[in-house]
This record gives sequence, C-alpha cells and structure tokens, in this order.
Amino acid sequence: MRRVNIQDLKLGMVIARPIYSSDGRILLQTGISLDEEYIRRLKEMGITSIYIRDKFLDEVDDIPDVVSEKTRIAATKLIGDNFKQLEKQHKINTRAITNMVNNIIDELLSNSKILVHLSDIRAFDDYTFAHSVNVCILSIMTGITLGYNELKLKELGLGALLHDVGKIKIDKKILNKPGDLTKEEFNEVKNHTEYGFEILRKYDDIPLLSAHIAYQHHERWDGNGYPRGLAGRNIHEYARIVAVADVYDALLDYRPYRPSYTVTQAITIIKRMAGIYLDTSCVSSLIANIAVYPIGSIIELNSGEIGVVVDVNKETPTKPVVKILYSRNQKRISHPYEVDLSKFSTVVVAKSLSEEEISRLRNNSP
Ligand SMILES: [Fe+2]
Repeated sequence: MRRVNIQDLKLGMVIARPIYSSDGRILLQTGISLDEEYIRRLKEMGITSIYIRDKFLDEVDDIPDVVSEKTRIAATKLIGDNFKQLEKQHKINTRAITNMVNNIIDELLSNSKILVHLSDIRAFDDYTFAHSVNVCILSIMTGITLGYNELKLKELGLGALLHDVGKIKIDKKILNKPGDLTKEEFNEVKNHTEYGFEILRKYDDIPLLSAHIAYQHHERWDGNGYPRGLAGRNIHEYARIVAVADVYDALLDYRPYRPSYTVTQAITIIKRMAGIYLDTSCVSSLIANIAVYPIGSIIELNSGEIGVVVDVNKETPTKPVVKILYSRNQKRISHPYEVDLSKFSTVVVAKSLSEEEISRLRNNSP
C-alpha cells in the first residue's frame, strides 16, 4: 500500500485502510474502488490523505502506529461526546477523559521506539475532535522526549486533549466560516482560550496547569500571541509544547484556501517558526518523533535509484530502510532488495516522488 494525498486521488484507486468517522463508524471500507462520488465525499470530509493498494509498487502492509487504532477511535469519540455534552448539560466526564489520557500515555511509553506516520493521523471526518487527539498524542511524545515523568505527562496530556474546549462557546457560524473572518469575528475566536480556562479550572480533578494549557496555547515565543501577549519562558512549558503540536497538526490539514502541506513541508515551516513564534527545544523534540519519510512513501536516492520506504528508525529518522524497485536508469528491477540507509554514509534520500512522477515512472515501465 502507498499513501496518496487527497488532491492526487484517481478513479479506480483501491482503499487499503478503512476510513472512520469521528464516532468510530467505518465510512469507507478496505477494498473499495474510488469513483467520483467517493473522492468528492472524502474531500468534503476534510480527509487529507489515504492509503491505497498498489500492486505495481511493492506492498507495504504493516504500518506501525504509536497509538492503536482502537484507542485513537475511542479517544476521538470520547472528546466528541464530551464537547457535545458540555454544550448541552454544562458538564464533562473528567474521569473518563483522565483514564483515556492515561491509556494514551501507557501506549506511547510502550511504543517509544516508533515514529509518527501520517497514517496515524488523518482518517476522521471531524476536524476539532481528531485534531484534539492528535495534539494530545504529539504533545505527550514531545514530553517523553523532554524527559517528563508520568505526573507531568498526565497534566500535559489532559490539557492538550482539552486545549480547544473553549470553542464550544464560540458561534458555530464563525468557527465554520469558509472565508476570512472580520476583526470582530477573529476577536471572538480568540476568546476560546479564556473560555477554555474558565471551564476547566472549575473541575477539582483537572490540574490547574492543564487548564493553563487551554489559556496559553496561542501565546507565542516572541510575545505576539494571545490572550495576554506572554513571551518566552513566561509561557508555561506545557503550553509551549501544545502550541507546537497545534500548529504542526493544523499544517497537515486541508484548508479551503490551500492544499494540505506534506510532512516534510510542515516540518520545514515549524523549524522556521522556532525561536520566533515557537520554542526551539519544543520544536526539535516534536520533530524527533515524526517520520520524515513515512512507510509507504516513494523516494529517490542520490544514487538515482527509486524505492519504497519499508521501515524507519527513530535514531536516524532521515535514513529509512528502502526497498529498491528501480535502477538509476529508471528500469524496473526484477528482484527488489532492501537497503538500510542508516548503514551508508554516502547514500541519502534526494527527494520524495510526487504523484505525477510516480505515474510517469509507471507509464515508462514495461
Ligand atoms: Fe486553539
């Protein structure tokens, strides 16, 4: 299987991994062949990339997940239910949410050698809920890299999962507005930080520092954030971590005015923001957990050979294990073989192939 961005989907491509709704239902099952209607629906759901079957390029079937699919679906559903419940009955189930955060931490600690693949991240249709879970997972991984103990991971994870809870008080028409916001509307959106803090601090079993994550996650390192314009270390480290995860995850998402960025592009962008908007050490600790060349992506080496990424190593994230499929003169190899780039100092990844380059390669091959 191979990962394809939503804008590159073609008729007849076959889905290799199921796509779930935010309440855990399967929307599109493995084995479905895409027609125009399916592609349109995927776009409508805001899904940014999916896994498709590809017999022509060698198969990669087992993509490791930092958090199991089961937990990810349960967490997304839990957040969805609680946000809705909070709107109607003004209460959330803090115990269930705390238990979920503990589950996620346990899974991440036992999978600490695995990198985040895009596959982990985007198979849901409701942006806010899936985004909250992603931000939680990415933040906890950053915390683990920074050497946090379990108590700190729990405070961080809980605040990260609930960082945008204040959005329930913002008018849906403003939140879902496709075009630019007016100044007044943007000021109203900014209030979600204070609303979130006010909601969370009322619960005895939510640590105050977790509530401060909701309050401070839009503060920026240089003091140009909101609501208070805090700068540098005056912003709590938890909020600095969540800010990085929040920005990174949003970049991977499709927006009406731009396509979704690739992992490589998103990493480049947050690196550029480091030291200006974002805390440098939080940025590098997040990046240490991301697979720059996810399993299933097609890459070209500096030797000119082309292959599919079959494994990645956390110690050397830019040097994956590659199954070579094409020789340097772009001839299909009859017996593909694996190369572990971490064992070679001179062979490096030159680039990821775009969907056009992949289909050109396919058309040129016998
Ligand atoms: Fe936010």
